[in-house]
Amino acid sequence: MIIAIDGPAGAGKGTVARGIALHYNLAHLETGLLYRALASKVLENNVDLDDIDKIAALASTISLDDLKNKHLRSEEIGNLASKVAALPEVRQALLDFQHKFANTPQPGFNGVVLDGRDIGTLVCPQADIKFYITAELEVRAQRRLKELQERGIKSIHTAIIQNMMDRDLRDKSRQQAPLQVAKDAYVIDSSHLSPDDVLKQSITVIERHLKK
Ligand code: DC
Repeated sequence: MIIAIDGPAGAGKGTVARGIALHYNLAHLETGLLYRALASKVLENNVDLDDIDKIAALASTISLDDLKNKHLRSEEIGNLASKVAALPEVRQALLDFQHKFANTPQPGFNGVVLDGRDIGTLVCPQADIKFYITAELEVRAQRRLKELQERGIKSIHTAIIQNMMDRDLRDKSRQQAPLQVAKDAYVIDSSHLSPDDVLKQSITVIERHLKK
Protein backbone atom coordinates (compact mmCIF):
# COMPACT_ATOMS: atom_id res chain seq x y z
CA MET A 1 0.00 0.00 0.00
CA ILE A 2 1.32 3.43 -0.94
CA ILE A 3 -0.31 6.50 0.63
CA ALA A 4 0.59 9.99 -0.59
CA ILE A 5 -0.07 13.08 1.52
CA ASP A 6 0.54 16.62 0.32
CA GLY A 7 -0.20 20.09 1.60
CA PRO A 8 1.29 23.41 2.68
CA ALA A 9 3.36 23.99 5.84
CA GLY A 10 1.46 23.68 9.11
CA ALA A 11 -1.63 22.01 7.62
CA GLY A 12 -1.10 18.89 9.74
CA LYS A 13 0.05 16.47 7.06
CA GLY A 14 2.97 15.20 9.15
CA THR A 15 0.71 14.46 12.11
CA VAL A 16 -1.84 12.58 10.02
CA ALA A 17 0.95 10.72 8.17
CA ARG A 18 2.39 9.53 11.50
CA GLY A 19 -1.07 8.46 12.66
CA ILE A 20 -1.77 6.52 9.45
CA ALA A 21 1.69 4.92 9.59
CA LEU A 22 1.02 3.70 13.12
CA HIS A 23 -2.52 2.51 12.39
CA TYR A 24 -1.61 0.48 9.29
CA ASN A 25 2.01 -0.36 10.18
CA LEU A 26 3.44 1.59 7.25
CA ALA A 27 6.98 2.96 6.87
CA HIS A 28 6.78 6.78 6.90
CA LEU A 29 8.97 9.19 4.95
CA GLU A 30 8.55 12.87 5.77
CA THR A 31 10.03 14.17 2.53
CA GLY A 32 10.30 17.77 3.78
CA LEU A 33 13.15 16.49 5.97
CA LEU A 34 15.17 15.61 2.85
CA TYR A 35 15.02 19.24 1.70
CA ARG A 36 15.66 20.43 5.25
CA ALA A 37 18.68 18.13 5.62
CA LEU A 38 20.06 19.52 2.38
CA ALA A 39 19.45 23.10 3.56
CA SER A 40 21.32 22.28 6.76
CA LYS A 41 24.32 20.95 4.77
CA VAL A 42 24.26 24.05 2.55
CA LEU A 43 24.46 26.22 5.68
CA GLU A 44 27.10 24.07 7.36
CA ASN A 45 29.32 24.12 4.28
CA ASN A 46 28.74 27.81 3.58
CA VAL A 47 27.61 27.05 0.04
CA ASP A 48 26.41 29.97 -2.04
CA LEU A 49 22.79 29.58 -3.26
CA ASP A 50 24.03 30.28 -6.81
CA ASP A 51 26.41 27.30 -6.68
CA ILE A 52 23.91 24.85 -8.12
CA ASP A 53 26.49 22.14 -8.92
CA LYS A 54 27.69 22.05 -5.31
CA ILE A 55 24.13 22.01 -3.93
CA ALA A 56 23.12 19.21 -6.32
CA ALA A 57 26.23 17.25 -5.31
CA LEU A 58 25.28 17.65 -1.64
CA ALA A 59 21.71 16.54 -2.45
CA SER A 60 22.98 13.23 -3.79
CA THR A 61 24.74 12.53 -0.46
CA ILE A 62 21.57 12.78 1.69
CA SER A 63 20.87 9.59 3.64
CA LEU A 64 18.21 8.48 6.13
CA ASP A 65 20.72 9.21 8.92
CA ASP A 66 20.80 12.90 7.93
CA LEU A 67 17.07 13.14 8.68
CA LYS A 68 17.69 12.47 12.39
CA ASN A 69 19.37 15.87 12.90
CA LYS A 70 17.34 17.59 15.66
CA HIS A 71 17.96 21.08 14.28
CA LEU A 72 16.12 20.55 11.00
CA ARG A 73 12.78 21.96 12.19
CA SER A 74 13.79 25.59 12.64
CA GLU A 75 12.18 28.38 10.59
CA GLU A 76 15.57 29.30 9.13
CA ILE A 77 16.11 25.77 7.79
CA GLY A 78 12.48 25.59 6.55
CA ASN A 79 12.90 28.76 4.51
CA LEU A 80 16.20 27.67 3.04
CA ALA A 81 14.73 24.22 2.31
CA SER A 82 11.97 25.88 0.29
CA LYS A 83 14.63 27.81 -1.70
CA VAL A 84 16.85 24.81 -2.52
CA ALA A 85 13.70 22.79 -3.30
CA ALA A 86 13.02 25.10 -6.26
CA LEU A 87 16.23 23.92 -8.01
CA PRO A 88 15.43 21.25 -10.65
CA GLU A 89 18.83 19.55 -10.05
CA VAL A 90 18.01 19.14 -6.37
CA ARG A 91 14.53 17.77 -7.07
CA GLN A 92 15.97 15.20 -9.47
CA ALA A 93 18.57 14.00 -6.94
CA LEU A 94 16.00 13.70 -4.15
CA LEU A 95 13.39 12.14 -6.44
CA ASP A 96 15.59 9.07 -6.83
CA PHE A 97 15.82 8.74 -3.03
CA GLN A 98 12.02 8.98 -2.67
CA HIS A 99 11.33 6.55 -5.53
CA LYS A 100 13.63 3.99 -3.91
CA PHE A 101 11.88 4.39 -0.57
CA ALA A 102 8.40 4.11 -2.09
CA ASN A 103 9.09 1.25 -4.47
CA THR A 104 11.30 -1.02 -2.34
CA PRO A 105 9.44 -3.24 0.13
CA GLN A 106 10.29 -2.01 3.64
CA PRO A 107 10.98 -5.07 5.82
CA GLY A 108 8.41 -5.51 8.60
CA PHE A 109 5.94 -2.97 7.15
CA ASN A 110 2.73 -3.32 5.12
CA GLY A 111 3.58 -0.45 2.81
CA VAL A 112 4.62 3.19 2.88
CA VAL A 113 3.23 6.64 3.53
CA LEU A 114 5.06 9.67 2.19
CA ASP A 115 4.17 13.27 2.96
CA GLY A 116 5.37 16.40 1.19
CA ARG A 117 4.41 18.76 -1.61
CA ASP A 118 4.58 16.68 -4.81
CA ILE A 119 4.00 13.12 -3.62
CA GLY A 120 0.61 12.50 -5.25
CA THR A 121 1.45 14.51 -8.36
CA LEU A 122 5.00 13.43 -9.11
CA VAL A 123 6.79 11.12 -6.66
CA CYS A 124 4.03 8.51 -6.37
CA PRO A 125 1.38 9.23 -9.02
CA GLN A 126 0.47 5.54 -8.73
CA ALA A 127 -0.30 5.82 -4.98
CA ASP A 128 -3.30 3.80 -3.80
CA ILE A 129 -4.72 6.75 -1.90
CA LYS A 130 -3.85 10.44 -2.06
CA PHE A 131 -4.68 13.11 0.49
CA TYR A 132 -4.30 16.86 0.27
CA ILE A 133 -4.38 18.38 3.75
CA THR A 134 -4.85 22.11 3.95
CA ALA A 135 -5.85 24.80 6.48
CA GLU A 136 -6.33 28.56 6.62
CA LEU A 137 -3.12 30.59 6.80
CA GLU A 138 -3.91 32.08 10.24
CA VAL A 139 -4.63 28.63 11.70
CA ARG A 140 -1.41 27.21 10.27
CA ALA A 141 0.58 30.15 11.65
CA GLN A 142 -0.96 29.71 15.13
CA ARG A 143 -0.03 26.03 15.09
CA ARG A 144 3.55 26.82 14.08
CA LEU A 145 3.77 29.49 16.78
CA LYS A 146 2.58 27.02 19.41
CA GLU A 147 4.99 24.35 18.22
CA LEU A 148 7.94 26.78 18.39
CA GLN A 149 6.83 28.02 21.83
CA GLU A 150 6.69 24.44 23.09
CA ARG A 151 10.25 24.00 21.91
CA GLY A 152 11.25 27.13 23.83
CA ILE A 153 11.81 29.22 20.69
CA LYS A 154 10.54 32.82 20.94
CA SER A 155 8.81 33.87 17.72
CA ILE A 156 6.83 36.82 16.42
CA HIS A 157 3.38 36.16 14.98
CA THR A 158 3.76 38.55 12.02
CA ALA A 159 7.13 37.03 11.12
CA ILE A 160 5.64 33.52 11.12
CA ILE A 161 2.74 34.65 8.90
CA GLN A 162 5.17 36.34 6.48
CA ASN A 163 7.43 33.25 6.39
CA MET A 164 4.46 31.03 5.62
CA MET A 165 3.16 33.30 2.88
CA ASP A 166 6.63 33.46 1.28
CA ARG A 167 7.05 29.71 1.52
CA ASP A 168 3.52 28.99 0.17
CA LEU A 169 4.12 31.29 -2.78
CA ARG A 170 7.54 29.80 -3.55
CA ASP A 171 6.36 26.19 -3.19
CA LYS A 172 3.24 26.79 -5.32
CA SER A 173 4.76 28.89 -8.08
CA ARG A 174 8.06 27.13 -8.77
CA GLN A 175 8.55 25.70 -12.26
CA GLN A 176 9.20 22.11 -11.19
CA ALA A 177 6.80 20.05 -9.13
CA PRO A 178 4.85 22.96 -7.61
CA LEU A 179 2.53 22.24 -4.70
CA GLN A 180 -0.88 21.48 -6.18
CA VAL A 181 -3.83 19.23 -5.49
CA ALA A 182 -3.54 15.93 -7.37
CA LYS A 183 -6.64 15.32 -9.52
CA ASP A 184 -7.54 12.19 -7.58
CA ALA A 185 -6.66 13.48 -4.10
CA TYR A 186 -9.07 13.46 -1.18
CA VAL A 187 -8.98 17.01 0.22
CA ILE A 188 -9.26 17.64 3.97
CA ASP A 189 -9.41 21.18 5.37
CA SER A 190 -8.08 20.79 8.90
CA SER A 191 -8.75 24.41 9.97
CA HIS A 192 -11.55 23.48 12.36
CA LEU A 193 -10.67 19.84 13.01
CA SER A 194 -8.57 18.29 15.77
CA PRO A 195 -5.62 16.10 14.70
CA ASP A 196 -7.70 13.12 15.84
CA ASP A 197 -10.63 14.11 13.61
CA VAL A 198 -8.32 14.47 10.59
CA LEU A 199 -6.90 11.01 11.29
CA LYS A 200 -10.41 9.51 11.68
CA GLN A 201 -11.53 11.03 8.36
CA SER A 202 -8.43 9.70 6.61
CA ILE A 203 -8.89 6.22 8.05
CA THR A 204 -12.53 6.22 6.88
CA VAL A 205 -11.34 7.03 3.33
CA ILE A 206 -8.66 4.31 3.46
CA GLU A 207 -11.13 1.72 4.81
CA ARG A 208 -13.56 2.55 2.00
CA HIS A 209 -10.74 2.05 -0.49
CA LEU A 210 -9.65 -1.27 1.07
CA LYS A 211 -13.19 -2.67 0.88
CA LYS A 212 -13.37 -2.03 -2.88
O1 DC B 1 7.20 19.92 4.83
P1 DC B 1 8.28 20.88 5.28
O2 DC B 1 7.74 22.20 5.75
O3 DC B 1 9.22 20.26 6.26
O4 DC B 1 9.15 21.17 3.94
C1 DC B 1 10.20 22.11 3.89
C2 DC B 1 10.34 22.62 2.45
O5 DC B 1 10.78 21.57 1.61
C3 DC B 1 9.06 23.13 1.82
O6 DC B 1 8.83 24.50 2.05
C4 DC B 1 9.23 22.83 0.36
C5 DC B 1 10.19 21.66 0.33
N1 DC B 1 9.54 20.40 -0.01
C6 DC B 1 9.33 20.14 -1.36
O7 DC B 1 9.62 20.99 -2.19
N2 DC B 1 8.82 18.95 -1.74
C7 DC B 1 8.48 18.01 -0.84
N3 DC B 1 7.98 16.84 -1.26
C8 DC B 1 8.64 18.27 0.54
C9 DC B 1 9.17 19.49 0.93
